[in-house]
Amino acid sequence: MSDKNLNNPDTNDLDRIHAAVVREKADLPAAGRPAPMWAIFVGLLVAVIGGGELGNALGYFNIESSPKLGMISDPRASAGGAGATLDPFALAMKKGATSYAVCGGCHQASGAGVPGQFPPLAGSEIVLGGTEQLARIALHGLTGPVTVKGQNYNMPGGMPPQGIAMSDGDIANVLTFIRNNWGNEGSMVTKEMVAKVRDTEKSRTTQWTMAELEKFAKANIPGDVPAGPGVPDPAAKK
Ligand code: HEC
Repeated sequence: MSDKNLNNPDTNDLDRIHAAVVREKADLPAAGRPAPMWAIFVGLLVAVIGGGELGNALGYFNIESSPKLGMISDPRASAGGAGATLDPFALAMKKGATSYAVCGGCHQASGAGVPGQFPPLAGSEIVLGGTEQLARIALHGLTGPVTVKGQNYNMPGGMPPQGIAMSDGDIANVLTFIRNNWGNEGSMVTKEMVAKVRDTEKSRTTQWTMAELEKFAKANIPGDVPAGPGVPDPAAKK
């Protein structure tokens, strides 16, 4: 370094500039050196992947749980809630499968029932028969002897009424579900249809017997089924 006094106006410009350059170089700390390209690349990679993982873990990228994305209105919600993109039949099957948990406690998830106790719904002539009869069993229950797939059942106490805890919509969906699950194929049951039967039988307080229901064995509740790609054609099914 120069020993000239740099503040002295006599010192020439070249000396001053040179001294400044030397000072800059000496002052440059090791950490101030530009990072090598590979380090920048690795750093970016960690930030992008790590940030993504973190965002994911915190639910920021999930439209349901994200505090940020939640502010954008979910397009599915405007059309009637989650599942609104399903056609009416698929939606009824989905909801019916959930409601079936109530029935499944006795009739089993497989729909096969329990020999000597709970009759099967899979392949049952009653499930695939008239919806007038089926809806009545679901709403008010059933007691006394009943024959399903050649087996006799007569459970003491019978089947408890389900129409107290379940709405018309719940029952409609669960009936659509049992008529179109485990290989069963049957027409759709709508909540308007169940409402019709509930209203007709509103003074009823006791369970049905098969003898009483005989006249409904083949009768279907009148009413339209919604249009949709998956909706079974009522005329084409048993
Ligand atoms: C507490 C047990 C129990 C529950 C819960 C129950 N059932 Fe039943 N169900 C029975 C019994 C027992 C019978 C036979 C009654 C008899 O012996 O008269 C029966 C009969 C039936 C029958 C006529 C026979 C057949 O197998 O086709 C249908 C249809 C039926 N149940 C549908 C349902 C549906 C749908 C649900 C749910 C919404 C349901 N059950 C809930 C016990 C139950």
